[in-house]
Amino acid sequence: MADSPLPETPTPEPMAPVAVDEFQLLSKQAEGSTYGIPLAVLVELTHRCPLQCPYCSNPVELEASSKELTTAEWLRVIDELAEIGVLQIHFSGGEPTARKDLVDLVRRASEAGLYSNLITSAVMLTRDKLEALADAGLNHVQISIQGAESRVADRVGGFRNGHVKKLEVARWVKELDLPLTVNAVMHRQNLAQLPQIIDLAVSLRAARLEVANVQYYGWALKNRQALMPSRAQMEECTRVVEAARARLHGIMEIDYVIPDYYAERPKQCMGGWGRQFFNISPAGKVLPCHAAESITGLEFDSVRGNKSIRWIWDNSEAFNLYRGVDWMPEPCRSCAFKEIDFGGCRCQAFALTGSARNADPACVKSEHHARLFAVAHEAASGGDGFLYRNFSGGTPEKTGG
Ligand code: FES
Repeated sequence: MADSPLPETPTPEPMAPVAVDEFQLLSKQAEGSTYGIPLAVLVELTHRCPLQCPYCSNPVELEASSKELTTAEWLRVIDELAEIGVLQIHFSGGEPTARKDLVDLVRRASEAGLYSNLITSAVMLTRDKLEALADAGLNHVQISIQGAESRVADRVGGFRNGHVKKLEVARWVKELDLPLTVNAVMHRQNLAQLPQIIDLAVSLRAARLEVANVQYYGWALKNRQALMPSRAQMEECTRVVEAARARLHGIMEIDYVIPDYYAERPKQCMGGWGRQFFNISPAGKVLPCHAAESITGLEFDSVRGNKSIRWIWDNSEAFNLYRGVDWMPEPCRSCAFKEIDFGGCRCQAFALTGSARNADPACVKSEHHARLFAVAHEAASGGDGFLYRNFSGGTPEKTGG
């Protein structure tokens, strides 16, 4: 069911969208074939996580630990991924270090020739464990941070002393000579700290900083009122990022994603549905994206079934339904950008319009686009209390934080 349909009443003064360079978009014409061999897979080893971030990208209905794939099943999956030509494996969660077999899985990925990335909150890592992962062949570490200092970061993550631990682990990553990406998920309640977050990432010797503004599906949609930035905040955020990019050229790359609600073109979500990437859930469901289960009515095959991953990628209905451009109705069908953005995000289209076939309302050509600004405007003046992510459907933040 669509979680939060757009209101019928448009705002009287729609906010101007953040400008994008359309030439740049056109010149970034999607590279390579539409689909063939997926480049990368994100494996969500578990939905268990000590943090409770209110924008977690996991589905609202989390998969219980009793349903998680066994070590033997994950090892078989890793072998199969390598066999079909996948190049990268991103070990994610939940918190992937909650799995006791993580070192074994990383070792198998390395032996199979896969480039491995650990996407972690870092709070469960010890120096020994990180060293064992490096010895097993781990290629890259991505650590999320929730703010520039403990007061904000620990509140957002719902985990006391987490921020300090993350910084300690980030230093270990560099001591072990592993490349480090810092992922900073930004929203109304931490955007003021962006300059300090950038300085922090530089001091941690991160090669890359992802300034990833929250996108609103799943848990984040439930927390939209508490997370949505204002238009003025977004403009300041863009200014800070652009200045930092110029200042830090050759030192640290900064990836920057604005909230779709303030965009005028949709993002090429997942590089296009079923085109380059896919996810495997803790219980083995093969998903076109991390939020695909939010689209009701789609059936997903599992690695526990009798079909190969390659078969699922090529043939399963869930992948083929929105793959490429042939499925598109107007305004996407006749749009010059359709092979660039592939219609944007299916999950967002479903969440905001009730149909995943519609153009992503982030697109200026969508009939729902103007109302998106109304929603953002209203949400930006909402209350600050979070609904923390957990296995029981969420827990409201206690008053006083
Ligand atoms: Fe599912 Fe964008 S998050 S297509």
